[in-house]
Amino acid sequence: MNIIISPSILSADFANLERDINLVKDAGAKWLHIDVMDGHFVPNITIGAPVVKSLRKVTDLFLDVHLMIDNPQKFIKPFAEAGSDLITFHYEAVNNPSELISLIQNFGIKAGISIKPNTPPEKIFPYVGSVDLVLVMTVDPGFGGQSFIHDCASKIPVIKENSPENLIIQVDGGINNVTSKICTSLGANSLVAGSYIFNSDNINQAIQSLLS
Ligand code: DX5
Ligand code: ZN
Repeated sequence: MNIIISPSILSADFANLERDINLVKDAGAKWLHIDVMDGHFVPNITIGAPVVKSLRKVTDLFLDVHLMIDNPQKFIKPFAEAGSDLITFHYEAVNNPSELISLIQNFGIKAGISIKPNTPPEKIFPYVGSVDLVLVMTVDPGFGGQSFIHDCASKIPVIKENSPENLIIQVDGGINNVTSKICTSLGANSLVAGSYIFNSDNINQAIQSLLS
């Protein structure tokens, strides 16, 4: 299986983003995971569309934007126009996921839907045929460096069995060289990792260890 690694810049040095992005690119990463938090949907604030716009100017990596915000429908346009390649929103943050999926895809980019640890996988079955990616959170969203919640991984095969073959199933939170194997053996094909990659002494080795 082809596994997509998406290093989360939440654990990168915000004063040296271009440098850190080039480190993961040189180590073979094709995607970059960008965590957007609003202090409402999650108890933390990170970055907004202007940062995505600046990153777009300095990298050709696939920009995988994870919106952990209330009212994501208000922010699709600025994030799409900033150069996002994929925008993932949270199922728990919207009333009409189908509308949001179309809104994102109408910008010519990919759409993802994410579920928090307490949300059952069945809730997103109605959307797996239209969305490009499902993100199964393996920690409570809000912070990097948390421990992997093992129970969340059991959602992966449930989603896989009920989804089209080409759906990307991504996991995010507490991913390291051990938990990555648990997730990929269950059917995940995209791994987000922040602290494991950026806090490592050898970024190249850290990324390879997620794959092997
Ligand atoms: C958490 C974010 C994650 C975070 C993962 O709310 O969505 O993307 O950066 O960090 P690690 O890999 O350190 O658990
Ligand atoms: Zn994330």
